[in-house]
Amino acid sequence: MSPVQRLLLLLSICASTITLATLVHATDHIVGANRGWNPGINYTLWANNHTFYVGDLISFRYQKTQYNVFEVNRTGYDNCTTEGAVGNWSSGKDFIPLDKAKRYYFICGNGGCFSGMKVSVVVHELPSTPHAAAAAKPEEKSGAGSVVLAIPVVVVVVVATWIVPFFGYWV
Ligand SMILES: *[C@@H]1O[C@H](CO)[C@@H](O)[C@H](O)[C@H]1NC(C)=O
Ligand SMILES: *[C@@H]1O[C@H](CO)[C@@H](O)[C@H](O)[C@H]1NC(C)=O
Ligand SMILES: *[C@@H]1O[C@H](CO)[C@@H](O)[C@H](O)[C@H]1NC(C)=O
Ligand SMILES: *[C@@H]1O[C@H](CO)[C@@H](O)[C@H](O)[C@H]1NC(C)=O
Ligand SMILES: *[C@@H]1O[C@H](CO)[C@@H](O)[C@H](O)[C@H]1NC(C)=O
Repeated sequence: MSPVQRLLLLLSICASTITLATLVHATDHIVGANRGWNPGINYTLWANNHTFYVGDLISFRYQKTQYNVFEVNRTGYDNCTTEGAVGNWSSGKDFIPLDKAKRYYFICGNGGCFSGMKVSVVVHELPSTPHAAAAAKPEEKSGAGSVVLAIPVVVVVVVATWIVPFFGYWV
């Protein structure tokens, strides 16, 4: 194989690695950042400063003896009511997967909502990645950690074996 062919192959390996890494990448959005889930914080400002994608997590950190989290609909969010809630969490450190492209509504269910403990986020489709590819590989998402770790190792080994002779040829 000629050096040029080697380089082309190397570049295509790098490109597919980047694509895969993007596919399995997920962000954990900590509500309120280091201020957590507490009264008196404007979570609209926090949400406006973040971009949410399908597959990301939203996480709530709070005193579990005082607060909790309910996923509600628009009416529940506007009126601070939990009737017909979609889900509820109370561990004090809740990680909630954002697995649909839609607007989500979360409130505190025991009064905190009236002191500002409500947050609404819009979750977007992953940008410029084929949905079919993401949907066709659900098993890779669950094993995301090992995939992300394994690929760079493979790439480093490939680069080490291929690029060294390549430069040796020209020098
Ligand atoms: C939070 O900030 C937004 C954006 O500036 C503003 O529209 C909204 O009225 C604020 N909410 C409260 C409860 O202050
Ligand atoms: C928005 O995000 C930036 C960078 O992450 C941060 O420095 C800034 O404090 C944030 N602003 C608000 C209102 O959360
Ligand atoms: C909820 O609040 C809206 C205004 O935001 C009001 O029109 C509606 O009647 C309220 N619904 C209930 C069930 O209280
Ligand atoms: C939200 O859920 C409540 C209770 O199930 C329901 O009465 C209400 O119509 C729903 N509101 C919206 C905007 O879907
Ligand atoms: C919280 O969710 C559980 C199911 O996960 C449900 O059985 C329970 O009724 C919910 N609690 C409230 C207060 O809605």
